[in-house]
Amino acid sequence: GFGIGSLLKETGLVTLDSGFTNTASCTSSVTYIDGDQGILRYRGYPIEQLAEKSTFIEVAYLLIYGELPTATQLEAFSGRIQRHTLLHEDLKRFFDGFPRDAHPMPVLSSAVSALSTFYQDSLNPFDDEQVELSTFRLLAKLPTIAAYAHRKSLGQPLLYPDNRLGLVENFLRMSFGNPAEDYEVDPATAKALDLLFILHADHEQNCSTSTVRLVGSGQANLFASVSAGIHALSGPLHGGANSAVLDMLEGIRTSDDDVDTFMTKVKNKEKGVRLMGFGHRVYKNYDPRAALVKKTADQILEKLGKRDEMLDIAMRLEEIALNDDYFIERKLYPNVDFYTGIIYKAMGFPTKMFTVLFALGRLPGWIAQWREMIADPATKIGRPRQVYVGSPERDYLALDQR
Ligand code: ACO
Repeated sequence: GFGIGSLLKETGLVTLDSGFTNTASCTSSVTYIDGDQGILRYRGYPIEQLAEKSTFIEVAYLLIYGELPTATQLEAFSGRIQRHTLLHEDLKRFFDGFPRDAHPMPVLSSAVSALSTFYQDSLNPFDDEQVELSTFRLLAKLPTIAAYAHRKSLGQPLLYPDNRLGLVENFLRMSFGNPAEDYEVDPATAKALDLLFILHADHEQNCSTSTVRLVGSGQANLFASVSAGIHALSGPLHGGANSAVLDMLEGIRTSDDDVDTFMTKVKNKEKGVRLMGFGHRVYKNYDPRAALVKKTADQILEKLGKRDEMLDIAMRLEEIALNDDYFIERKLYPNVDFYTGIIYKAMGFPTKMFTVLFALGRLPGWIAQWREMIADPATKIGRPRQVYVGSPERDYLALDQR
């Protein structure tokens, strides 16, 4: 080893870095972020170029294998995903065990966790073929599981995947189609969702990805690691922010407070009110993904004829924030999820599904990072130290003496 780690080990000292604001847990070749300049690159490619020219399936390949695919590689990759979209019939019955109003996030992580009971032939993290198989199973089945969780919460019948369709189209059809009728996927909606998935596909060592790596560092299988990542994503300070933003906008729309009163509450830190969808641990400049989402929000709402009040409230909040000293001093800018909820809503998804959509987008990143970790000979089990602040040694007291 080299550097401060081995020095500290020898001296018996530990660093205390709550929230890991300044501690790297690994080396990685997947994603590069420069938070001060607002730069994001997957495997070296700027996010703006991928957003404009690539597709989600191609980006998934890029993240997992490190290079853009050739036409033949891309065809084989999507073909293999298409062959794995079905769920085991018994796994389908698994959805019946949840209450009807179950939130789809825990349903998603439970079903992913259950995959390791159905696919015991692909659990060995050190067998490359098994890892490939688990990779395809996850990429193919997560959209099916997500659509089932959505249908279930509406009390609607489940639709089998239609494998003539691509991943995003198939997911939209399973989410919104009707078994008794043909369902035409709207190309503008599919394109917008594909773009949002690209923008969410990886973001280096964020909370959920670090969770996936940490669980995997104990050599737990890929399904178990991703299931844990989905739980980590569900919190409102992480992926859950996208639904929290919409709840916040809805709250402002229906309350007596105007936008300025709400912002005063945020700045006074009233009852911990935060401007959801603002701020980021790494970006201290405009989140490049937020800029791309904002552009899409405008276009897609125009196209779907659903330009709504929520977008106006969001734009007003942003305008105030970008000109206010509180936000300027703290370098708080919109993050990727400030505008995504408005788009998901216009597409017809209920608020509860927003974080599930984030998970679908983030999946290739989790897989790529888990595979990178397993393949890295420098990987050790993740085991942070602590600084003990509890009681010094004391003697046990019998019950009648306390
Ligand atoms: N609204 C109001 N004030 C904020 C916000 C916000 N959204 N975010 C940070 N601040 C303030 C804090 O109160 C703090 O102020 P202080 O210095 O006066 O105490 C200062 O800015 C620094 O904030 P921290 O919480 O220390 O920053 P941290 O890097 O730990 O948090 C986080 C980053 C969690 C994203 C935070 O900005 C936040 O809670 N944002 C709202 C939730 C959100 O949108 N999360 C999504 C993140 S992106 C993602 O996962 C896709």
